[in-house]
Amino acid sequence: MQKEKKIFLPYAEFASEVQPEAQKYLVYLVYWGLFWLVAFLWTANAQAQTVQVLHWWTSTSEEKAIATLSGRMAQENIVWKNAVIPSGSGIGAGIVLKSRMLAGDAPEVAQLNGVIISEWADLGLLQELDPVASSGKWEKSLFPTVWRLIQPKGHPVAVPLGIHRINTLFYNRKIFARYDLSPPKNWDEFEAIAKKLQQAGITPLAQSAEPWQLATLFETLVLSESDANFYRDAFVKKSPQAFVDPRFGRALSRLRSLKKYMPAFLSEQTWIASTRMLADGDAAMLVMGDWAKGELNSWGIATDVGFSCAAVPNTANYHLYNIDTLVMLDKGATVRSAQEKIAQIAVLPALQTEYNQIKGSIPVLRNPELNKMDSCSQTSWKIFSRGSAFQVPSLAHRMATDEISKDAIIAEIMRFFLNDSLSVSDTQKRLAAISHTLPK
Ligand code: BGC
Repeated sequence: MQKEKKIFLPYAEFASEVQPEAQKYLVYLVYWGLFWLVAFLWTANAQAQTVQVLHWWTSTSEEKAIATLSGRMAQENIVWKNAVIPSGSGIGAGIVLKSRMLAGDAPEVAQLNGVIISEWADLGLLQELDPVASSGKWEKSLFPTVWRLIQPKGHPVAVPLGIHRINTLFYNRKIFARYDLSPPKNWDEFEAIAKKLQQAGITPLAQSAEPWQLATLFETLVLSESDANFYRDAFVKKSPQAFVDPRFGRALSRLRSLKKYMPAFLSEQTWIASTRMLADGDAAMLVMGDWAKGELNSWGIATDVGFSCAAVPNTANYHLYNIDTLVMLDKGATVRSAQEKIAQIAVLPALQTEYNQIKGSIPVLRNPELNKMDSCSQTSWKIFSRGSAFQVPSLAHRMATDEISKDAIIAEIMRFFLNDSLSVSDTQKRLAAISHTLPK
């Protein structure tokens, strides 16, 4: 009764009689509000988990692909912090990751590709992802080769993102149409095309002198001059006989003979610059992993409009592959749920489609959305799906062997490429001698 009366009191009375009580309520309300605000901020903060991801993706398409992952993780309250070490193919990133590990300053997540996954797993540095893999049915949904790669010791320790095809020959469609050319299926056709282009003043083949880019080209030549078994003998088994085999000799000779079709002055330009040469018509062809396709697309150059993909001559039946993977470093229980969430989401079909469309690679899944792939990816997926006999692991991109062996082999290929006075057979003998000393 009394309360009702007070509400209608004139202001003077309200000020004198009711205000002290109202003030009490007001103070009470403010404290209550503050309590909930603090509680809300505290919980929100407790849930948001910052995760540092070390990788080497810096090009337009690579950044876009990363943004699809980080954007999706943001929906899960995971703050994805990029720790980028620019270096095509990840040479610098690997070194930084190792030193950060030694300094006890590991990131939560890192891009770590290939054979090295098994080495790091041996040292117990990688978090095992068994619950995520079994709830996501990875064994059934992933390509068997991918599944084997990520679980070297019977426990999944890496998250597969996409599969790149290395033996891709990109060609500039405008130039090919202008000179009425079709993509070469063998080296005779390649030579004929290259000569015609040179007569017209066009550089036939874009190339960089960066060791990993030369090695990327060279490994496709080894496959081209031989087959999957021989390639594995050389780069996986590192058999001395393989290095002195005539087929290996032919690949070296081919590398030397392609030199005349490359730019006269070969700089150590980035792969992005090599791709730019193709896009701008400064070169008519480029041998590169299909991340170059992602990049061309990100510049607004559509597949089968500005460029198309073919296989490097004589390699159409094979998929020389490179698989991008993330690993979770063991950083204790606090970040584990965020790391597991990333692992779980990265392999979901919708994200796989979106990410790989941008990156230029194909999903790691046996049953992806094929109708959402362009012609290059459909071919890549079909050939990879034929199984392990047609899948060939990239040397340059760490799928074939350990880091020391890879670097030792590439160093010899570089010496041979840069110095025309070194003979094919001497280089073969040197490689065979080195291969005796390499880890098996
Ligand atoms: C990686 C690709 C990357 C390329 C260029 C390769 O080793 O697998 O994801 O786009 O290097 O940096």
